Amino acid sequence: MCGIVGYVGSNDAIDVLLNGLSGLEYRGYDSAGVALANGTLAVHKREGELAALESTLPTAELRGRSNGIGHTRWSTHGPPSDANAHPHTDDEGRVAVVHNGIIENYQSLRDELTADGVTFESETDTEVVPHLIGRALEEGMAPETAFRAAIDRIEGSYAVAAVFAGSETIHAARRASPLVLGIGDDGYYLASDAPAFIEYTDRVVYLEDGEFARLSPEEVVVTDSSGTVVEPSVETIEWDAEDAGKSGYDHYMLKEIHEQPTALRQCLRGRVDELTGTVTLEELDALESSSPVQFVACGTSYHAALFGATLLRDRGVPAQSFLASEYSTDRIPVDSSTLVVGVTQSGETADTMRALREANRAGAETVAVTNVVGSSAARECDHALYIRAGPEIGVAATKTFASQQVALTLLACRLSDGSNHDVIRTLRDVPDQVQTVLDTSQATEIAAEYAESDAFFFIGRGYQYPVALEGALKLKEISYRHAEGFAAGELKHGPLALVTEETPVFALVTGDDERAHKTVSNVKEVEARDAPVVAVTDGQTDVERYADHVLEVPASNEIGAAVTANVQLQLVAYWVAHRLGRSIDKPRHLAKSVTVE
Ligand code: AGP
Repeated sequence: MCGIVGYVGSNDAIDVLLNGLSGLEYRGYDSAGVALANGTLAVHKREGELAALESTLPTAELRGRSNGIGHTRWSTHGPPSDANAHPHTDDEGRVAVVHNGIIENYQSLRDELTADGVTFESETDTEVVPHLIGRALEEGMAPETAFRAAIDRIEGSYAVAAVFAGSETIHAARRASPLVLGIGDDGYYLASDAPAFIEYTDRVVYLEDGEFARLSPEEVVVTDSSGTVVEPSVETIEWDAEDAGKSGYDHYMLKEIHEQPTALRQCLRGRVDELTGTVTLEELDALESSSPVQFVACGTSYHAALFGATLLRDRGVPAQSFLASEYSTDRIPVDSSTLVVGVTQSGETADTMRALREANRAGAETVAVTNVVGSSAARECDHALYIRAGPEIGVAATKTFASQQVALTLLACRLSDGSNHDVIRTLRDVPDQVQTVLDTSQATEIAAEYAESDAFFFIGRGYQYPVALEGALKLKEISYRHAEGFAAGELKHGPLALVTEETPVFALVTGDDERAHKTVSNVKEVEARDAPVVAVTDGQTDVERYADHVLEVPASNEIGAAVTANVQLQLVAYWVAHRLGRSIDKPRHLAKSVTVE
């Protein structure tokens, strides 16, 4: 997964491209590069984060050019290096190409081109594209025809943009990788994601799979795979550059943690009526099937899916959640009565997309629960339920998880019978309760106490089990510390052997039901083995007696407590990583959206 950006217009292209790339770095930061056209192609690329490229870029020399493309990379084929950085060019320097996705038949194309005398400079799959274009130019094709001919030869997923020496036009195409066009007053933009150009324009066109775009100083022309001109649908983005910036926080992650009350209010707006107890999800008006429900998702979204499946089962609807990478309709019964729900913040995760495509082929009705309007998942599915969290830039998902929890609660209400009054009251209070946690959390003290620990364990039951998994994932991905989440009852079946006085155990104990009291018993087992215990609790049990520290959450039911307890764990993860000096927004080896299987 990578980020691509392009611009043609009356401003200096280099400034727009560098700004755009900084807005896309969450998509990958192994290397970065730009190519400026309308003259001899000027290609500059460098291993490392964007700052490494900027430090060597002759920016002043590049001013005055009106069009160009840029790329920020997350390696798939070939390690991070200057040579593997995009843009890639043909032998003669006639065309430069940036690409996000995977070219599945690149090896056979590379063999064919090598046999033709082409010398490859990189190990990437992408480099076949400029060489295919170069060969088509040699055969006498015009740039646009040559570009289309090359795209016709490649298989797999791609968002590709190309510029030609001496030309002001940018050519682009997409299949199964995101590509959005920006329609500005000072020019036209393209990018993997709108934050790359939101400070210039909020008018966007989401390119459909199989479509091509031609951006020139005068116009944007969108065509389908046969070359027929398509009337683009121009949409207006509802958030602005300030929403996508850090707003004074040290990291996007901390900003996004603090945005949760607003995000949750947005998710609920217009969807619940407290008086009548009704939940209205207009996006799902046409939904027919409702049972059984199969969730497919990865990572944090999978934890939200576990939460959603628990909710549905508790409301009498058969539901299961699957890791998307393990989901296969060959082995899991799916038919036209099955509802398959893909939970994916980005809407671009390759594993989830594959699972959703399989489900569609098997005849299931599909819903994408996603944050990104116009994302691949939203397009693939019969219906899209938007979580409305606003842009999330930090690689670690935070506000989108909370918004998924709330959106899935609404979905559970929509799919089940029975009264929703209690749930709606809970959801109404959750944004303020999250704010209370943000205002009063002692997470920095806990982080100071335990940042150097050997390992961290998280335990919870029922609705708090996915939160335990999520707490551990958050901590490990940004702090690089070993962390595991367990169903509280499982601890004694093996993991207890790992518990020592150097391994803090975070116990999620909320409510006053049987599950909460059983978890208190598990806490006693841990305490008896001298492990430090941090109880995340609403004080309804006596767990505090056995805990070394307490992180308080407001009293609520299991849904509200699962949201607020998770916020405490997000803060712990953030402050541990902060103390350890980690690269919080861009953790090593990770990317915001993983578009490879
Ligand atoms: C979350 O912090 C991770 N970055 C990761 O697990 C993520 O949730 C996963 O890759 C799924 O992404 P998606 O929601 O965009 O599909």
